[in-house]
Order: sequence, then C-alpha cells, then structure tokens
Amino acid sequence: MKILVTGGLGFIGSHTVVELQNKGFEVVIIDDCSNASEDVLEGISRISGQNPIFEKLDLREGHKVQDFFERHPDIKGIIHFAASKAVGESMEKPLLYYENNLHSLIYLLKRISATGGAFIFSSSCTVYGQADQMPITEDAPVKPAESPYGNTKQMGEEILRDTCSVTPGLKAISLRYFNPIGAHPSAEIGELPIGVPQNLVPFITQTGAGIRKELSVFGNDYPTSDGTCVRDYIHVVDLAKAHVVAMERILNGKQEGNYEIFNLGTGKGSTVLEVIESFQRVSGMNLNYRIVDRRPGDITEAYADTTKANRILGWKAESTLDDAMRSAWDWEKKIREKDF
Ligand code: WQD
Repeated sequence: MKILVTGGLGFIGSHTVVELQNKGFEVVIIDDCSNASEDVLEGISRISGQNPIFEKLDLREGHKVQDFFERHPDIKGIIHFAASKAVGESMEKPLLYYENNLHSLIYLLKRISATGGAFIFSSSCTVYGQADQMPITEDAPVKPAESPYGNTKQMGEEILRDTCSVTPGLKAISLRYFNPIGAHPSAEIGELPIGVPQNLVPFITQTGAGIRKELSVFGNDYPTSDGTCVRDYIHVVDLAKAHVVAMERILNGKQEGNYEIFNLGTGKGSTVLEVIESFQRVSGMNLNYRIVDRRPGDITEAYADTTKANRILGWKAESTLDDAMRSAWDWEKKIREKDF
C-alpha cells in the first residue's frame, strides 16, 4: 500500500519512512530540501534495504502537486511533516510561516478530500502553552499561540477539524508531539540542525563534540525539582512508530469518527540538568555548561498524559532517556566523520 510522506527527508519524517517500510508500506517522499539533504535517502535505504520513491517538490506549487497526484493515483494515505519549524524565525518572517505551513496543508487536504483517504498531521504540544495541570491530557485547553509557528499548528488543526466535519471520506489524526530527540540506533539517520542548534539535545551533542564551547542552561530558578525546566523527551523512533500505528488504525477502519487527536510523549518529565546527566552517563564525558538567564517564552514544565495513546492506539514509548541520548551521541559522532 502506497503512503505519501511529505517532509520525509527531515528528522521525524525520515525515521517514519523507515518504520513504514519495516511494516511493508511502499513510501513516496516529497521534500523541497529547504531544511534537509537528499543524502538522507541513502541512510534510509541502508537501514531498510529499500529505496523510497522521492520527488523534490515545493508543496506551495499547486499545479505541480496536482501533477504529482495524477502520477500517483494509488496513494492511500498522507503523513504530513513538511513545514517550517523554527520558532524564532517565525517571529521575524510570519508570512513565510503562514504561507508555507498553511498553503501546503490546504493543497493536500483539497486533494485527499476529493478522493478520500487517510491523513496524519504533525502537530505539537506547543498548542497547550503553559498548561494548568500536569500531565497534559488532550482535553487541556489550547492556549493563545506564542509564535506564528505555534499558530500554524493550531490553525492547521482547526483547518483539519473543519474539513473532516464536512468530508466523511477524509479520515484524519493530529499527533501532538512533546520533545522529539535521539536518532536511529544504526546512526544512519538523525537530526541535522542548520547553523547553531536552538534545541537542547543537538546543542548538548555539539558541545560534547567540541563544536560549541559550552551549553547555556536557560534558568535554574523555575519551581521544579532542581530549578530547570521540565520537558517530555521522546525518542524519535518511538515517535515514528506511533505514526505507523495511527495510519494503520485509519486504514483498518478502527477510527472513532473521522478526526482524532493524540498526545505523543513518554509521560515522564525530565529537567534540563537530568538531560545533561544522562548525556554524561552515556558518553562518559563531562559536559561544559553554565547557568544563564531564562530564555524568554520558555514555559516551566510540559509532559504528556499518554493514557489516550496507550489505550486507543495501543502504542507506548519504549525507550529511556539514556537510550535516546546514546543514539543522539552516536549520531553526532557519525556526522562528524561525514560531510552532509
Ligand atoms: C528544551 C529545554 C530550554 C537550549 C521546542 C519548540 C516547541 C516544540 C518542542 C515543535 C528548555 C532548555 C534549550 C539550550 C537550554 N516543537 N535549553 N539551553 O523549547 O521545549 O520546545 O520543541 O513543535 O514548539 O519550541 O525545546 O529543545 O528548545 O528546549 O537550557 O541551549 O532546554 O530552556 O527548558 P522547547 P528546546
């Protein structure tokens, strides 16, 4: 069965392609390579032994998207990752984010609404803002977005919900990710941040590799166990597997209604210092870090209530924080040998 993965050369997309292939799906990737390299295709096929079909395409080019679907009329489902994702950049270029993230979604939904099919949307725990209660359930209120990026995820979910409500043939699931980290255990694929990493784990591994001098820990005066912020760090392979399970749920006709939302996290919160300790444990190194001021816009804590995903999807994150940090470190060492 043929599945389209948009943004399939990206961090979460590439891991999902591998898990789909492992389950016998035929995968077609669309990626515009604005934030990913075509070399990722080699990593994918070295793991799975299969070459996905790949088309370099910008999803905002409607007529090309139409032409693509005419050449692939047998696509039964779409997993839509392709999007701009840098929070800071979205503050500076809001129109780029609204155009890129919403246009592409609308084109894809127009197509799949007409034919019917399965659609998985890459959403984020960012929609909850600082939730009032931990752990965060899917019923927690959506808070006003802190950035145009976050707003595109909220608006994307609304567009999807409204389209589903008038299109019975469209079956969709929004997956709200907490903090995806790590890499494939083979170290063939992983995260490839461009420039200075904004996220914690790639900054840690680059510091370990000597590319960054030291990690700045943004604040240790939060009301948490050690004063640093708490997040729910989920191994990207666990996250990828959840996409396959969600897709199978729709394709096997198991869905309740035609639109559902699931949190994807481990259910366990970790502080920034605990992540650093984990890195030190798995790498055997001491990490150079310094406590600095809080980063504007950071929330104190966010971790998922995973009951709904566990019960309804029958999916559970398996990997520990140490597993994820070990894979991130193995990947960092590998890419230092390669030139991506
Ligand atoms: C994690 C923790 C930082 C860097 C981001 C996106 C969000 C969502 C998930 C997708 C925080 C601390 C970080 C550093 C640090 N993604 N930190 N020093 O902010 O939870 O969320 O990913 O939708 O939209 O914004 O992730 O990795 O940036 O930060 O101390 O150099 O690490 O303060 O507590 P965040 P992050």
